[in-house]
This record gives sequence, C-alpha cells and structure tokens, in this order.
Amino acid sequence: MFKIHEQKYHPDLDPKRKLYIETYGCQMNFSDSQIVGSIMTDNNFETTDKIDEADLIFVNTCSIRDHAEQRVRARLQEFKRYKKLKPGLIIGVLGCMAERLKSQLIDEEKMVDVIVGPDAYRDLPRLLSIAETGQKAINVILSADETYADINPVRLDSTGISAFISIMRGCENFCSYCVVPFTRGRERSRNPETIVSEAQDLFNSGFREVTLLGQNVNSYKSERGSGFPELMERIAEIDPALRVRFATSHPKDLSDELLKTMAAYPNICRSIHLPVQSGSDKILKLMNRKYDRQWYMGRIEAIRAILPDCALSTDVIAGFCTETEDDHQQTLELMKWAGYDYAFMFKYSERPGTVAEKRYEDDVPEEVKSRRLKEIIDLQQELSYRSNQADIGKTFEVLVENFSKKSQKELSGRNSHNKVVIFPKHDFKPGDYVNVRITACTSATLKGEAII
Ligand code: 5AD
Ligand code: SF4
Repeated sequence: MFKIHEQKYHPDLDPKRKLYIETYGCQMNFSDSQIVGSIMTDNNFETTDKIDEADLIFVNTCSIRDHAEQRVRARLQEFKRYKKLKPGLIIGVLGCMAERLKSQLIDEEKMVDVIVGPDAYRDLPRLLSIAETGQKAINVILSADETYADINPVRLDSTGISAFISIMRGCENFCSYCVVPFTRGRERSRNPETIVSEAQDLFNSGFREVTLLGQNVNSYKSERGSGFPELMERIAEIDPALRVRFATSHPKDLSDELLKTMAAYPNICRSIHLPVQSGSDKILKLMNRKYDRQWYMGRIEAIRAILPDCALSTDVIAGFCTETEDDHQQTLELMKWAGYDYAFMFKYSERPGTVAEKRYEDDVPEEVKSRRLKEIIDLQQELSYRSNQADIGKTFEVLVENFSKKSQKELSGRNSHNKVVIFPKHDFKPGDYVNVRITACTSATLKGEAII
C-alpha cells in the first residue's frame, strides 16, 4: 500500500501550518474530513476552526443534489478574498464534487489549486507539494480496496462523547437518481478488527457512543465472510456503557438477523433509518430501489414485531420523473402508515450521468415538486409532533452530549430513539447517562426533568 510517510515534512525545520476544513453533505463526508485531518496532522499541519489564520483551506463537498453543489460554488467565490489577503494560501476541493467534475472544476473555478476524490486522500501531501510550486494538482482515481482502515481519524469539532466510524465505502446499488455510485465508487468493507479496535479506543478515551457508517451497512462483509450483525455484536460487546448506532440501511437488505441482534443488546440503539424514497411501486421501480411497497411494509412489520420499541426515520424524494398526484398520495399514505419519527425530505434533483438523467424526463414542474415537498414536510411535522407527544410522561435514559444551545443551565443529549432531550443540569455533565422524565415537547425536541 502506498504510504504517505515518505512525504512527511521535517518538524524541526518546518513550523506547523494551519489547515481549515469545511464539510458539506452526509455523515460519511464528516468522517472523511477526520481522516483527512489525520493525514494532514501527520504531515506537519494542525487543524484550525479560524478560516482567516489558515494556510490551507479544504472544502469537502457533496454532489447529491444540484443545490449542494451550488452552495459550494458560492463558498468558493468567498475564498477568493482570503487568497488576496494571503497569496500563498492553497485551496483544495475534496469529495464528491471533486470526483464528479474532475479537472473541469479547475477550469470553472480558478481559485481552486487542488482536486482530490474520496479515495485519494493518502496522496494529499504529494498533491500539496505540487500546488506549492504554483501548479494545479489533481487525483480523482477511485479504488477498489481503499478503506483508510489504518488511519486514526482526528476528531474534529468533537464533544468527546459521540463519534462516527466508517465501516465501508462506496455503493453499488445504482438507484437511478443517485450520483453516489459514480463519485464514491465500488462497495468495499473495512476489516472488522480495525473497526473494533477503533471503537474500543474511543470508549477508553471517554466516548460513549459510536455510529457505524456506510452507504448500505447491511451489505457489510468482512474478508472472512462475516456480516453486519456479527460486527454489531462485537462492537456492542465492548461495554454495556457504549451505545452503538448505524446508518444507513437499504430496505432490500434489512435482515431479521440484524433485528434480532439489536434486540439482544440494550446498548444497540432503538432507532432505524430506513429510506423509503417513494410509496408508489411504479416510482420505486423507476428508481431501481429493488423493493416494492409491500416489501417495505413487511420490513417495518418485522421491526415492530422484533423490536417493538424502535424509532423509525426515513428519506423521501418528491417529484421524481413521471410522478403523478396518485403516486404522491401513495407516499403520503405510506408515511402515515409507518408513522415515522423523523424524515429527511428532498425535491428530486436531476444529476448528470445517472440512469434517470439519461433515460427519463425530469417532467414534474418545479412548482409541483415544491408543493408536494411542502405537503410531505407538513405531514412529517405532524407525525414527529405526535410521536414526541406520546413520549410525555415516559422516562428515558439520556446520554448527555453537551450544554443546550439556549442555556448553560440546561443539558442536551439523546435517548436511544435518537430524539434530542433537554433538561436542567443539576450536577450532571457530558458523558453521563441520566434518566429523564419527559414533561413537554415540540416537534423537534423533548424536554424533561432528571430523576435524581
Ligand atoms: N435528488 C434528490 N434527492 C436525492 N437523494 C439522493 N439523490 C437524490 C437526488 N438526485 C436523497 C435520497 C437519499 C438521500 C441521501 O438523498 O433520499 O436517501
Ligand atoms: Fe445512492 Fe441508492 Fe447508493 Fe443510497 S443506496 S447511496 S440512494 S445509489
């Protein structure tokens, strides 16, 4: 394997330079930024959260919707200002936009010096040394086996309680609307030993929650053939005081075996993110989701049977190609039936290179997409509120993560269902498990009193 250490700067000769990383998009990108942070700190950089003191600015980007890319482009324009103030400043674009646009991005956005795809982060020190000579540097080669398994992520912006662990990379599902299989490449799983030892190290250093990340964690497979339920078991066994979460599950692969493993370990959190995307069989087929409405409902029934007290969240896309009012109504009906606790909801955004872009017409007018999305959001707001109201009077074990945003006298944490709970501080602190009785709610948070 290509090692970055050959590129190390000489610490005695070279003072540490400052890296500022800004991250957009999914949790996997946040996890990748921590890997990048680690590679760079090994090469005589230190991370900073103050952009104006940076010698190097990285933007880790997302291509999932056009809007995400436009935000990054607007931000790049703002970076020109910092370049004027500090002429040696280097700007790098990382992640999915780098992979999708490749050298085209350098042509279009002249302030960019370095372009690095998600599988090329080990090459960053070499690319930077090229950029320092005033040349543009690019590496967007995708890999079949890179998992960054040996790199210990720098925990950026961390409260020291909850951490992400990336367990696999890439996606081969090729949902027809989605750019991820093109920007993140082939699916590959990380060696389980390195995952378990990362989780153990986190626990030893005070972390109390890990979220195992992958585009489709249910298809995790180690070289020896063990699957995701075995991996979850090993992480859950580290300590009963370590909470385990995971994201994301593809409904086509959510197995009863996983649900049974969850049921066997109280420290595996009672919360499943199961993206439905649409409630219409016709649309699901066009989306190449490889399940139908009946199958999806069957999976929820299995969750309810095996894990009766499990929260459910989902992703929904409004206005996919050919979606009629009837298709849209089926999505709303399915949402009501499932009674989701939480949802991420989007308007369909056509992405270049995908099957949907090539074969189907993006024929739902913008104002219809907006109206349908609003109906979906309004419904979810009601479902979330109803779900939170049903929690009033119940007591939950809350893992405290931070002070509440509004007051230093209140703490904020989450229960096993992944709901945010706010309560008066007393003598508790981040990292504590506290039993909190819920007394009030909004559609977004629960409020309560610690049981002392
Ligand atoms: N347009 C809108 N939403 C999309 N998603 C993925 N691709 C697109 C797209 N082209 C949504 C899906 C997915 C989530 C991560 O982003 O709902 O589950
Ligand atoms: Fe995209 Fe589908 Fe893969 Fe998720 S499972 S990343 S929506 S292709």
